[in-house]
Order: sequence, then C-alpha cells, then structure tokens
Amino acid sequence: MKILHFSDSHAGAPAEEWSAYLDKRWVGIFNYWFRRRFQHNQKVLSKAVSIMLESGADLFVCSGDITSTGQPSEFRIALDILRPLAETRKLLYIPGNHDFYVFDAKCNAAMRDAFAELNGGRFSISDLPVRIPFPECDIIAVNESWPGNLISSCGYLMKRDSDTIARMIKTKTRPVILAGHYPLIEEKPIMRIRHRLWGQEKLLDMLRSGAIDISLCGHVHKPYSIGTGEGGRGEYCAGSVTKMAVLSEFTYDPAKDVFAHRTIKFGGSV
Ligand SMILES: [Fe+2]
Ligand SMILES: [Fe+2]
Repeated sequence: MKILHFSDSHAGAPAEEWSAYLDKRWVGIFNYWFRRRFQHNQKVLSKAVSIMLESGADLFVCSGDITSTGQPSEFRIALDILRPLAETRKLLYIPGNHDFYVFDAKCNAAMRDAFAELNGGRFSISDLPVRIPFPECDIIAVNESWPGNLISSCGYLMKRDSDTIARMIKTKTRPVILAGHYPLIEEKPIMRIRHRLWGQEKLLDMLRSGAIDISLCGHVHKPYSIGTGEGGRGEYCAGSVTKMAVLSEFTYDPAKDVFAHRTIKFGGSV
C-alpha cells in the first residue's frame, strides 16, 4: 500500500467583508498580506497534485490548513487545485485550525462544503472520527481544530473522540494510521505552548504502546519524524507542501510488517 501525505498549503485572499476585521480573521489576513502570500505559492500545490496523480498511490492524505483564514474565496482557490485529486476518490482531507478559524456562518458552510467535496461525500465533518478500512491497514481520521482566541493556534482533542478511537482499535487486526492536523508528540512544550494540542494524552499513549502504528500530522511547516521505531512506526509531520515543496510517501509491506517513508522534494521549478 502506498500513501502520499501533504499539508498546510494555506491559500489566502483579501478580506471578503468588513466584518472580517471584527473577529480573528484580521490576524490571518494581516499575516497573509505580509507573510503567507510570499511563502505559500499555490502553483507549488498544483505541481504536487500533478505528481500525486501520476504516483499510483492508493491514498492521498491532506492534514489540513488548505486556507489562511477559512474564507469562502480561499476554499475556492484550494478546491480548484485539489479537485482532480478529489475526483480520484482516494483523497482524505482533515481540517486544520486555519480552515476552522472563526465561528462565521459563511466560512463554516464553505468548510463543510469543501470537506464534503474533498472527501467524495463519504462522510461529513460531524462524523469524525471515522475509520476507513483498507485491505492492509485501517486509517482513522480525527478532527482537532476549533476556532480559538486571537493569539492561540492550539488544537483540542475531545475526550469523546479519543474514547471513540480507543473503542475502534480495541479489536485491532491490522496496522492503524491516525490522520489529524496536530502533532501528538510535543518536542518543545514550552516554546510551542500557543500551538500545542490539548487533550491528546490518551492518543499519545496509544501511539507509544503501538496501538496506533503511525500518526500523520501537519501544522508545523517543516517536515519531520519523531519517535520512529520498529517497522517505521511513529509520528510523521508532512510540513507545508507550498512553503517547503515536499510530499511525504509511505509504503507498507504486509509481508515484513514494515512502513518505509521518504520525503519527496520537488522544489525548484514551478
Ligand atoms: Fe499551517
Ligand atoms: Fe495549523
């Protein structure tokens, strides 16, 4: 089985309405004008999609943050690029904190529509966590992103969701891959206090005990792996596909019960 994993493409756009300056969107829009639009070239995402379509992968996982502030225009930019991947019906998309940035009816409707289209209408966001069975392993998609205050980029894992996941893998018969937005393993808990995932202890225990074999995440824009042990088990952050021009590839060999991972760097000519 081959999986291609990518994250954090961060399409951006100017404020769509004056009320965007009354909530957290003004922070994201400021960030977009002065930083993100220089870092996240959507042509790089187009190139990544072309590479993925030719890869022959069994599954594409997007760990979220396809927008900067979750505005409908940003989802439209991202969807126009990701649509060919969604049409393969092999794409799994999990929202990031920038996709569920504020409680605004138009933004939230755009996110739900994007979620439905990218996931081929198989489930809605309120169905998460869901288990998607593959012949050689199970994928579990979980939502950890909820609107936060002006300075927080933290994620929140609901107790009911980690309890559901624990029940899902109680009778595990094959490897389990967890797909979320945030890293479970904290490398620098003090420095990353504004970016951490709260409530992740139970899933972290499952990852450390081997009940969860692989944790796929994004949110951190530089790709890395951590806690990787026997058979390639551990946590893998895809990094930002647009900022770093990287894709993350996994192949699982059931005969050897081994996951092989490599980072595909495709930057240079977009
Ligand atoms: Fe991000
Ligand atoms: Fe994020």
